[in-house]
Amino acid sequence: MQPDLLRGPGAARRPAPLRGRADPGSAWEAARADLDGLPGGAGLNIAHEAVDRHAADPARAGRVAVRWLDRSDTVHDLTYRDLAGRTARFAHLLARLGVGPGERVFTLLGRVPALHVTVLGALKARCVVSPLFSAFGPAPVRERMRLGGAAVLVTTPQLYRRTIAPIRAGLPDLRHVLLTGGDGSGGGEPGTLDLDALLDAEEPTFTIGPTDPQDPALLHFTSGTTGTPKGALHVHEAVVAHLATARAALDLRPDDLFWCTADPGWVTGTSYGIVAPLVVGATLLSDQGEFDALRWYRTLEREGVTVWYTAPTAIRMLMRRGEDGVPALPRLRLVASVGEPLDPDAVRWTARVLGRAAHDTWWQTETGAIMIAHRPGDDVVPGSMGRPLPGVQAGLLARGPDGRAAVGAHGGVHVLHGVAEGELALRTGWPSMFRAYLGAPERYAACFADGWYLTGDIARRDLQGHYRFVARADDVIKSAGHLIGPFEVESVLTAHPAVVEAGVIGTPDPVAGELVKAFVTLRAGTEPTEELRAELLAHARRALGVVAPKEIVFADALPHTRSGKVMRRLLRARELGLPDGDLSTLETAR
Ligand code: PRX
Repeated sequence: MQPDLLRGPGAARRPAPLRGRADPGSAWEAARADLDGLPGGAGLNIAHEAVDRHAADPARAGRVAVRWLDRSDTVHDLTYRDLAGRTARFAHLLARLGVGPGERVFTLLGRVPALHVTVLGALKARCVVSPLFSAFGPAPVRERMRLGGAAVLVTTPQLYRRTIAPIRAGLPDLRHVLLTGGDGSGGGEPGTLDLDALLDAEEPTFTIGPTDPQDPALLHFTSGTTGTPKGALHVHEAVVAHLATARAALDLRPDDLFWCTADPGWVTGTSYGIVAPLVVGATLLSDQGEFDALRWYRTLEREGVTVWYTAPTAIRMLMRRGEDGVPALPRLRLVASVGEPLDPDAVRWTARVLGRAAHDTWWQTETGAIMIAHRPGDDVVPGSMGRPLPGVQAGLLARGPDGRAAVGAHGGVHVLHGVAEGELALRTGWPSMFRAYLGAPERYAACFADGWYLTGDIARRDLQGHYRFVARADDVIKSAGHLIGPFEVESVLTAHPAVVEAGVIGTPDPVAGELVKAFVTLRAGTEPTEELRAELLAHARRALGVVAPKEIVFADALPHTRSGKVMRRLLRARELGLPDGDLSTLETAR
């Protein structure tokens, strides 16, 4: 156990149980029983379950673990044996560099095999892995690496030059930067090491040290309404939920070719882009290319993808392109979606055009794994996210005036029964529940009440027990699957000398779900010119990358709460043409 990561000032007040409840016979226990555990009873380690136990079995070692399509569409296969060797080399390299258990290894990578090797190799070394979005600009990357205390970063030469070199001086904890692949100009960046050359020099076998199932393993950053990004910390025991949900929600089996299109920087890119399919013993497909409808159809058909996990924005982009040239996909058994509301039109389109109605799945960075889904074999109810998976107890809690679950003076909540609408909550104790927001015990404690984890989502339940997403209860923005904290964007805008104050909201968009829009007030005497608007957009783009606002509006004044905070909800209400006072209709209007 590495207590330093889990404990912080005030952590003793944390009310949630830290362990998944051992409930023999539950859905989780069935999955737990199918895992190996480390040899000699040395604990539970994700990398052992995902890689080494398959590689140790002569019948499975030669099976393809990772099928990688490079940008030029060439196929490269890594077997479980290959993956065990490469991850062992990476674990040795960390030890040689003096990086010990519990230290944080970050990745800033696209979909390349070095990602799988780094994540799983660092888990073997019992380090904590934190993958970042490669499309982020320097500001969000610096913030996350600083909060996470990054000791090691693995990235490419291009990303290093673009995103890391400008912020390196502000990251004193960062001891090693390892560069891989890239454009052939790898190495040569001052203060970096050549990962590929170093790996070649290491041994291809590694004995994983004792790992407590409660040892921290994965750190995923997510955004809240206010303050810094939140580092949700997951432990090795999460692998129990990865296996159980891979089976229950995605129907994954060892002979599947599974394609998860999620970005590696998103929790989906780790839980289902790496861990879940490997724990099952299936083959995962990883495509370096960016979205391109024809390439995607070609890949689904040529590779014979059997289970496809994607997102509403991607499905809507396919819909926009039309139906010409969509191949027959007889091997595709299941299409599933995650991350944003899946509109009924998209469900019907997938049924008609791909031959499979997309199954919605709901979860969060904090839950670590799918919690609610249309299960394989269920009739898909368009517009609904499905039902809680076995082992998951979901509930709807009555809400107070601030829109969140009302928590009584003694910490009690009011659980709604039957057909209802309220804040979606989950009974604590599932194995992949986050165990901390790194360094923020009060924020963590505030997520729990009365044995429930409060999700911040408003949902509705029908007579059949299906849950429907209604809205977020807070101001976070979902754009093309990215959860964007308005405060992070506002901070970058107000850092510009012309800007006094900023309010950032999401506005509806037919493809991305929401787009980031900023309202700013300017310093006295500053003219609101088109040149200034372009300059602010470029300033935000440089600092934030993909999460920068698409639109900036100059305002004379912004609405404030009594305590002086910008009232984003009012900005949103006005944007949607709702009367100022009528904030209650906001949710259903989205
Ligand atoms: O608001 C919900 C939305 O995405 C949020 C979680 O975002 P993030 O932590 O980035 O996602 C991690 C992996 C899914 C949720 O609070 N969300 C997620 N799934 C759905 C969804 N909204 C509607 N329908 C979904 N299926």
